[in-house]
Amino acid sequence: AKSLKNFQGIRFEECLDDGEAAEQLNKWLLEVSWEVANKVGGIYTVIRSKVPVTKKEYGNNYICLGPYNDSFVKTEVEIGESKLDVIRDTVNEMKRLGIHVVTGNWLIEGFPQVVLFDIGSAIHRLDDWKGDFFRHARIGIPYHDREANDALVFGFCVFWFIGIFIDQVKRRQKCYVIAHFHEWLTGVGLIMTRLCGYDCALIFTTHATLLGRYLCAGSTDFYNNLPLFDLDKEAGNRRIYHRYCIERAAASCTHVFTTVSKITGIESEYLLKKKPDVLTPNGLNVQKFAALHEFQNLHAQNKEKLHAFVRGHFYGHYDFDLDKTLYIFTAGRYEFTNKGADMFIESLARLNHMLKSSGSDVTVVAFLIFPTATNNFNVESLRGQSIAKMFRDTVSNVQSDIGKRLYEISLKGHLPTPAEILLSSDLIELKKCIYGSQRSTLPPICTHNVCDDIHDPILNALRRCQLFNARSDRVKVIFHPEFLRSTSPLLPLDYDEFVRGCHLGVFPSYYEPWGYTPAECTVLGVPNISTNLSGFGCFMEEHVHDAHTYGIYIVDRRYKSGDESCQQLAQYMFDFSLLTRRQRIILRNRTERLSELLDWNVLGIYYYRARQIALTRIHPEFEEEIIKLANETSSNPSTPVISRSSTPAPHEHDDEGTDDEDESHPPPPSQISSQKVSPKQPSSIDQAFEPSFARPASATHLPLDK
Ligand code: UDP
Ligand code: G6P
Ligand code: GLC
Repeated sequence: AKSLKNFQGIRFEECLDDGEAAEQLNKWLLEVSWEVANKVGGIYTVIRSKVPVTKKEYGNNYICLGPYNDSFVKTEVEIGESKLDVIRDTVNEMKRLGIHVVTGNWLIEGFPQVVLFDIGSAIHRLDDWKGDFFRHARIGIPYHDREANDALVFGFCVFWFIGIFIDQVKRRQKCYVIAHFHEWLTGVGLIMTRLCGYDCALIFTTHATLLGRYLCAGSTDFYNNLPLFDLDKEAGNRRIYHRYCIERAAASCTHVFTTVSKITGIESEYLLKKKPDVLTPNGLNVQKFAALHEFQNLHAQNKEKLHAFVRGHFYGHYDFDLDKTLYIFTAGRYEFTNKGADMFIESLARLNHMLKSSGSDVTVVAFLIFPTATNNFNVESLRGQSIAKMFRDTVSNVQSDIGKRLYEISLKGHLPTPAEILLSSDLIELKKCIYGSQRSTLPPICTHNVCDDIHDPILNALRRCQLFNARSDRVKVIFHPEFLRSTSPLLPLDYDEFVRGCHLGVFPSYYEPWGYTPAECTVLGVPNISTNLSGFGCFMEEHVHDAHTYGIYIVDRRYKSGDESCQQLAQYMFDFSLLTRRQRIILRNRTERLSELLDWNVLGIYYYRARQIALTRIHPEFEEEIIKLANETSSNPSTPVISRSSTPAPHEHDDEGTDDEDESHPPPPSQISSQKVSPKQPSSIDQAFEPSFARPASATHLPLDK
């Protein structure tokens, strides 16, 4: 990154001028992703959360391109003609040739413009485009792969759009157009744009590699064998050879290649034969509260909602103290071993044993949130909630009647006797509720009817570990095979409300290029466990000394056997169960203080750098242009350096417990790293990779610590 050396001395935030410089330079950013206004997994979070900081730099010259997904567009997009001539004209030209293109603004913070291509409307061109793609790129796409066919059609729509768009913007003055593509699904557009030599700076970001994801999902000892895989053969065996070719061609055609973490950079070197030019770690849009402990109050409020659910779910078995109950959870796309759900369940079984044998009075309720095919909620779960409601209504009626009686009797000048307050009719109503809540079955371990119940890996692991929600179990489990939503009749919470209500997030992933779930916990002030095989875990290990004193626990899945990692995870959870309320409050304060490390206002610099490098690769004169502009305007320099230089210092309010209980604090946070907060430069990828990670014995074979 030679060009970056010329750009020191200016702070990142200072260059964000709401797109003024971008407009003057006629500089445009097109962000292309399958997950624009279309939620699938973490890439949606990347694009969505990055919008505010990107708009601060590009203003209206920032446009997101994605596929048109009717159900998401209805709720997430305000449809309307673009106010920009160039977009309107480009889109009209495509419409004239029969492509259904929807424009509008995505209803999220930053309100970015979106251009969405309806794949169905262009599908009749599939065969022609397949032919074109083969002629240009020599990659053939089989007819039976629906996803790859959709990716091809989407790619050609984007390629077509870029071609017309560049013609339009060039008409007026010299232009700088950057197209930033995410993940292999967008690769066709990038490859075609490059092969046709368009005047467009290209960036390709992988958020995982296809082969990495597939290989890890099996029982392959992935990290120890990275240099050894016969890539074509492995891709062929998995019938993803053509997809793999798209991904690899995109990585090699692009002007700048980026990955979300060092570990995925190393993986790309081996599997895509391409080293990233820049690492672009994922940030979040960090919400700052005016009141210091507002997030603690939100924890308490949302925990109450979880209590309400638990009371119903465990009806008839509700013999544990909610004040001594901890909520632990894991969540993500349903990739059983990649996401470490196997290790989580094994460790829960060990934790159950540890809690029982130590005589602990703590109950742990562990949620697993992984969407899979279901036939709706199961009756027992719904029944539990309606029984809880019946109790609430009955008690509320009795309470109100008691109130009226108390008032009447005391108005008459004497104190009521117990028999006058609680009548036998009230007792009968309460008895009816209690009898109605008896059950002969155990509280369900799953909230829904899973379609493939007998083969479902989570259900089978829970069965094998005998985590059945028995009365004697100190660890109760609830598998919720659907992403959370506030409109659910069962657990009516949005995901972030749910996270806030929990005490600990656990993400023991084996394959996790970044891992938003623990990052989101961190910015919400929820302690979490990740691994040193996840981009997030490695990032925190690198930038925070003694991360565990901040509630960031990192399980070692590199140098330990599966059994040892499992034990370490169980021990972390057990140790967490020993913390007092006051200690948990302090820990949450510390966790939350790390959120600035993960703020796009800091991490946005890496995307910025990737764009600068891409532009200077095709427009070597670009550097001079912006220096000229900076001199002209003198106040608004355009090239940032990182603005913050240290991890957060221990905070005077860290120890502000809001509550009761006790005395002893967790060990004080170590003095924080004096090195820079932000990740080291991509050169660090040069450091020798040590392929010494131990693939844990497949978790299904891990012995239980009984
Ligand atoms: N998520 C969600 N609802 C849920 C559970 C998870 O929206 O009920 C989101 C979560 O906020 C996160 C994303 O799913 O942003 C998962 O991203 P991650 O990077 O952890 O994993 P990926 O699925 O991309 O592999
Ligand atoms: C927050 C609230 C406190 C509450 C506490 C419960 O800190 O501000 O009022 O007592 O949460 O913490 P716990 O870890 O027991 O859920
Ligand atoms: C991918 C990865 C995940 C990452 C996300 C966003 O889906 O699996 O680890 O957080 O992309 O980069």
